[in-house]
Amino acid sequence: MTRVLEPGTGTRDDPHAQARDARNQPLLLHSMALFRELFAQLFDRRPIRTVVEIGVETGQVSACYAELGAEAVHCVESAPTEEMRAAMAGHDALHLVEGRSPQVLSQLPVADLYVIDGDHNYATVRAELDWILTHAPNALIALHDVLWPWSRRDLYYEPCLLPEERTHPRTADGPTVWHDEVTPAGFVGLGQFTVARTAGGERNGVLTAVEDALAEHGGRRLEIVPAVFGLGVILREDTDQDLVEALRPFTGSALLAALENNRIALYTRVLALQHEAVAHAEEADRQVRLLAERHTEVERLHRRCDELSDRYEQELAALRERNAELRRRFDAERPPRFVRALLHLARRFRRRFGR
Ligand SMILES: C[S@@+](CC[C@H](N)C(=O)[O-])C[C@H]1O[C@@H](n2cnc3c(N)ncnc32)[C@H](O)[C@@H]1O
Repeated sequence: MTRVLEPGTGTRDDPHAQARDARNQPLLLHSMALFRELFAQLFDRRPIRTVVEIGVETGQVSACYAELGAEAVHCVESAPTEEMRAAMAGHDALHLVEGRSPQVLSQLPVADLYVIDGDHNYATVRAELDWILTHAPNALIALHDVLWPWSRRDLYYEPCLLPEERTHPRTADGPTVWHDEVTPAGFVGLGQFTVARTAGGERNGVLTAVEDALAEHGGRRLEIVPAVFGLGVILREDTDQDLVEALRPFTGSALLAALENNRIALYTRVLALQHEAVAHAEEADRQVRLLAERHTEVERLHRRCDELSDRYEQELAALRERNAELRRRFDAERPPRFVRALLHLARRFRRRFGR
């Protein structure tokens, strides 16, 4: 679970405190719970009683809004898990709404704050923003993933529920910061989501959806906090200047932007290394299987050699015996020596005298 860190330096007696905190964090920080101090800025400056949270996942962030002062948090989730239900239980202010956004939005009370972190594609985010900007024009809107990788590339949890003409050709491969094409060694959905094969162009990605919605509805501006995949906050041009100022230390931070770029570069490098390690392990397994097959074949050939060697030994022994037998019979049936001498003389006589 993502825990929001107090900056910890460790002490002379406990010099490993910060390292301990670091290793207890997930390798990839991605939850909106990390933006708690930014939400605190919004809650401090606006009366936020009702929140609609779209995309709940573990439910760890939902309680955050209640702790900051919301009386009711409607948590919209298309695929609730047991972990999420458990996180909701015990919080009177949290109400799980099993369903899909934007379809369920009209069935919920109009909220003071909408937090959009559900299906990260143009069609869904654009429809969510169109509904909110039309029916809750004074609400604050926060969106996750307005930066890489889903700023200019659609992600689809359930593309079959979207009209085909409003989606892009999809792939199970994922983006990486190390080149522009998607790759199986990139940020992949592992069966949970697919992504648009190409980035950019029209109607592609969360940020593109925000830009188009704001262009159509007018009078709003988008502020981006360049951390943890980018938090977007949509504010009214006419009334929200104080919030623009309050968020500026985060939205204007070159340090945050540099850390985020470094984070996604390192993380996608780790993904590539993991992919290579798995490929090496699979190749090693293949070599071991091949060796085992060869070993079995060598043993089979050894056994065949032994069989043949036994058989030839037996055949040789039989031939030797037969040879000895023949020799014995030959010796037994041979004429005596003086008869052989007479026959020899007779042959010489015939050769000499021609008869
Ligand atoms: C990135 S996760 C949300 C993470 C969470 N907000 C956090 O910060 O910890 C996205 C969640 O949205 C859900 N989801 C996807 N499409 C949705 C939709 N159309 N309506 C509601 N929830 C959706 C997914 O099942 C997934 O649990």
